[in-house]
Amino acid sequence: MRIDQSSSLLPEVKRGKKIRIVVDGSFLDAFEGETVAAVLLAAGVIKFRLTREHRHPRGVYCGMGVCYECLVRVDGVDNVRACMTPVVDGMNVETCREVEL
Ligand code: FES
Repeated sequence: MRIDQSSSLLPEVKRGKKIRIVVDGSFLDAFEGETVAAVLLAAGVIKFRLTREHRHPRGVYCGMGVCYECLVRVDGVDNVRACMTPVVDGMNVETCREVEL
């Protein structure tokens, strides 16, 4: 969920240009300056990858590039940290893949 409006309690909401990315074959709206993780979470996607051995779901944990729990495939490149990767118009993101670290 994104905050769409300003209020007396929040500063004015300013966003980058509206763009679209493809996530697992579906289009999602995004804004320039957001990370892949922010766009996925705003859309309600919390499972980013599966562990190799037990196929346990993983998602954002640290949110700052340290834990490597948020790995996704971006434009065919495996093991990209969603929390550290800014969205680009037309980017293709694949989630819930088994990941070998
Ligand atoms: S959430 Fe920890 S590296 Fe992305």
